[in-house]
Amino acid sequence: MPVKLGQIGLGAWGKNLLRTFHGLPETSVIIACDSDQKTLSKISPAYPGVEFTLDPAKVLDNRAIDAVVIATPPASHFELASKAMENGKDVFVEKPMVLGIEDGRRLLEIADQTNKILMVGHIMEYHPASLKMKEYIDSGKLGKIHYLYATRVNLGKVRDIENSLWSFAPHDVSLIVFLLGRMPVRVTATGADYLQKGIEDVSFMTMHFEDKTMAHIHVSWLDPHKERKLTVVGSKMMAVFDDTESSEKIWLYDRGVDTKMDYNTYGEYLSLRAGDIIIPKVDSTEPLKLECQHFINSVKTRTQPRSDGRDGLRILTILNAAQISMEQGGAPMEIFPNAYNV
Ligand SMILES: NC(=O)c1ccc[n+]([C@@H]2O[C@H](COP(=O)([O-])OP(=O)(O)OC[C@H]3O[C@@H](n4cnc5c(N)ncnc54)[C@H](O)[C@@H]3O)[C@@H](O)[C@H]2O)c1
Repeated sequence: MPVKLGQIGLGAWGKNLLRTFHGLPETSVIIACDSDQKTLSKISPAYPGVEFTLDPAKVLDNRAIDAVVIATPPASHFELASKAMENGKDVFVEKPMVLGIEDGRRLLEIADQTNKILMVGHIMEYHPASLKMKEYIDSGKLGKIHYLYATRVNLGKVRDIENSLWSFAPHDVSLIVFLLGRMPVRVTATGADYLQKGIEDVSFMTMHFEDKTMAHIHVSWLDPHKERKLTVVGSKMMAVFDDTESSEKIWLYDRGVDTKMDYNTYGEYLSLRAGDIIIPKVDSTEPLKLECQHFINSVKTRTQPRSDGRDGLRILTILNAAQISMEQGGAPMEIFPNAYNV
């Protein structure tokens, strides 16, 4: 039996989710909603078998569907996702899961109480290049991870509710926490609003981990470059994941600084190693398709998705700390990973 879906939000990203879920053989999209008539009129002709509505309640109350996909602006995620689960539907909600820690905690409780699948659209956790990077890190190929830095910048859509931190950084925070498999202990962030008062167009945040590993994230929609890149510096090798590259997404550098057993001076003790550069083959399946398949599989098998509500709450905890740090001019914020039982 196909999983019967309803979707709310068919904007810039929602239309991609609709196209992808609609194309999966094990899924049947029954109803789709957007509160904007123009958006509905533009999208509906391509999906003759799908019912379209302006009213989200028609999706949330629909008895014919098993699950709801939510791709509305983040401020509406909590209300829509909680109602969907309370009405007996599994939920896929776009990132960020919600905008506040308390709402995040409550959403998780509702998922637990109703026994519903709650998956957050942390798409980078499904990207084939992320899985390859994780394989390199977990196998020890890169050695001990010293530090990472991610850049996600462009001259792009200016949001008017959530700032660049909440809009872009969920991708990089979720990717880095997924790759390292642990939470930071401290977060600092700074940012500035140039276009709209109180909405930071550019944010710089740093996550500090227990063993001195450090991860820096730079996000902006006010930048001359289009970059989506993560660099990982390990004690044995270094790796770059460039998501703007069409096929050569990962570059592995056999570069580092070795220590010699036999030396006379400190200069001789440390020797630079500049070895080969390897560009491994990475599966070219669309990350969005893998993410949507993962949700459908979780619904069918009743197993927790990789980016479940707990993962959503973890990322929320970090973003929330970064936001407070930014508001306090970059003050360090401690993270207590167990505080939310995640
Ligand atoms: N995973 C990714 O790579 C990715 C990329 C972009 C955006 N997103 C996320 O997707 C979500 C949507 O972003 P977007 O760029 O598509 O925004 P958008 O503004 O382009 O689209 C949102 C749509 O939701 C509709 N809408 C708003 N409130 C509604 C409601 N209560 N009921 C029904 N429809 C409603 C709007 O009319 C609009 O068409 C956000 O959470 C965003 O962070 C994810």
